[in-house]
Amino acid sequence: MFPIHRPRRLRQSECLRRLLRETSLSRDHLVYPLFVRPGHKVRKEISSMSGIFQFSIDSLLKEVEEVSKLSIPAILLFGIPESKDEKGSSSYQKEGIVQKAVRAIKKEFPDLAVITDVCLCAYTIHGHCGVVKRQKSEDRSQKSEVSIDNDETLPLLQKMALSHAQAGADMVAPSAMMDGMVKRLREGLDGNGFEHLPIMSYSAKFASHFYGPFRDAAESPPQFGDRRGYQMDFANGQEALREVALDIEEGADIVMVKPALAYLDIIRRVKEKFSIPVAAYHVSGEYSMVKAAAQKGWLSEKEIVIEILTSSLRAGSQILITYWAKDIAGWLK
Ligand code: PBG
Repeated sequence: MFPIHRPRRLRQSECLRRLLRETSLSRDHLVYPLFVRPGHKVRKEISSMSGIFQFSIDSLLKEVEEVSKLSIPAILLFGIPESKDEKGSSSYQKEGIVQKAVRAIKKEFPDLAVITDVCLCAYTIHGHCGVVKRQKSEDRSQKSEVSIDNDETLPLLQKMALSHAQAGADMVAPSAMMDGMVKRLREGLDGNGFEHLPIMSYSAKFASHFYGPFRDAAESPPQFGDRRGYQMDFANGQEALREVALDIEEGADIVMVKPALAYLDIIRRVKEKFSIPVAAYHVSGEYSMVKAAAQKGWLSEKEIVIEILTSSLRAGSQILITYWAKDIAGWLK
């Protein structure tokens, strides 16, 4: 009989399946997001994200110790500040929450990579990622379109990134989706002796409903309007490639696609078109959706999580930012 090709020959045993596996999840690619807030001995669970907490710096250090024992190479730090104002001025203070946390972490865990989120939304009273254009606040609540002053926001983000670098951050991750953001950050860093500090840009960040639970975690929901004026329309793929191209031109070292699960096509297209590392952010909604179903016994969390994150690697991402990082690291041990 004609020797037809039979792919099933190679699937007959676990050893063969292992040999043939094209992507394997490993701890090496994981980034664990962490939320830090003022106070002492605070370890407050986020109601919409079971298993994820806001920590004061003292408790955060304990958490980071666990992370580092699990050999997770990096964390991504978000701050919840003491006070908020119109322009997010608590985001770039030397004694700001993130700056203090970075110093404390780097002192005890010098080998762990600390990445910081650079965005104003947790620091502004209105919860937007940039400076809101002046208009009477009564008008604002009635208008659905929010207008953000892109160019007035840039120097603030620049200061914020520089203050993180000065505190000892290993990489900054701008997520505000302002035009020209990466270039301004690069200039600010280079002009102050931080030429070596990489930028991971949230290049293709979509205006997504998957961020819902995060906004509880970071206490950053917009008080009026939404973020569609600066984050991308989820219907667009070509535009994501344009955003990525611009960020690379401006000096990004790593580009990010966010969210990840519903955007695997974008990860793949970015990977195919550019030769730059791609990070995938498996966001809060992806996490909470699986958690909730798992708690009901409707699906098996471990298997689902491995499948989801493997799909992201297969699509082309090499960095996985995920709230499951600790669990995965434990499972893979
Ligand atoms: C800040 C920021 C957001 C997330 C990361 N950085 C929220 C937003 O844009 O509303 C979302 C992360 C997540 O959902 O896990 N701009």
